Amino acid sequence: MLDAGRPADVASVAAILRDGGIAALPTETVYGLAGNALDPDVVGAIYAAKGRPSDNPLIVHVASAEDLPSVARTVPAAARALADRFWPGPLTIVLPRRDVIPDRVTAGLDTVAVRVPAHEAFRAVLRAAGMPLAAPSANRAGSPSPTTAAHVLHDLDGRIPAVLDGGPCDVGVESTVVDLTRTPPRLLRPGGVSLEQLREVLGEVEVDPAVVGVLAGDAVPGAPGMKYRHYAPTAPVVVLEGAVDAAAAYVRAQGLDHPAVLCFDEERPAFAGFEVVTYGSAGDAAGLARGLFDALRALDRPEVTHIFARCPAADDGLNRAVRNRLLKAAAFRVAAV
Ligand code: TXA
Ligand code: MG
Repeated sequence: MLDAGRPADVASVAAILRDGGIAALPTETVYGLAGNALDPDVVGAIYAAKGRPSDNPLIVHVASAEDLPSVARTVPAAARALADRFWPGPLTIVLPRRDVIPDRVTAGLDTVAVRVPAHEAFRAVLRAAGMPLAAPSANRAGSPSPTTAAHVLHDLDGRIPAVLDGGPCDVGVESTVVDLTRTPPRLLRPGGVSLEQLREVLGEVEVDPAVVGVLAGDAVPGAPGMKYRHYAPTAPVVVLEGAVDAAAAYVRAQGLDHPAVLCFDEERPAFAGFEVVTYGSAGDAAGLARGLFDALRALDRPEVTHIFARCPAADDGLNRAVRNRLLKAAAFRVAAV
């Protein structure tokens, strides 16, 4: 379906969207699969292209904080304060929804998740299309979010008419999702804006239990998407916590045919003899976030039967988002070595 000889540009993508089509666009976090948020049929096409369960709601992207009242029924002072500080940027705010937002976008919830993205290409498309854009990450449901146009094509070529190539994404993990319809506000998904930054603006912020562990019994996560196994290569992933030499000894002791290791750049020598993919330097949380999904995709090959992953020990700043994505990829399986 894609015309490789004619790369998508802002004008052609905006035209596709105005005509009721869908297209993949870069954001500063990950690539999104965008379409008119006000048209239930378009939203249905987004779910179909991704193979996404319809109980997992989409984020509505708008051009500026001034558009909030057109999608949200009420805009509390806290939302204005967050918008002033972090928009445009990697923060999604959950607010009471207006009826103009179709049930399909919110999966029937009475709330809507809204964000003003920072990427210039996405902003130009928003202005040219003149409509709020629903956009989940532009991957097939279950795989790691795409951080390059090549990742999008790998997952969705033949299923969507266009990808606007904006180069690799700056942040590399999805936006932070915060629910302002609860008191105190609740962090539903850690991302490019840290919990510490949210607390500077909001004071007390609770962390949804789904961020840090498997939910017990029939407990429901605040963000429906957090209940799915996500970000995951086909092979099972285990997070290895502890000293690097003990971690290498642990992998060796398993006696597996084709284990692969995801680790920090400086840990590569400790895992000599294994297939190793690195995703950045241990102390550089922003670099780890940027490299994580590409590394998980590189490990997703049929001959790799087991993946052992090294994860930042600190749970602050962007490390919290990296830990959350890795623990979810591992279905919260952790070996303390
Ligand atoms: O960075 C991002 O947020 C990217 C780019 C494209 O903007 N988008 C993205 O969308 O990650 P998606 O659909 O992959 O993730 C949206 C998350 C899901 O966990 C979903 O359950 C949650 O937001 N969500 C959406 N609407 C919600 C609502 N009304 N209440 C609670 N959670 C909601
Ligand atoms: Mg997603």
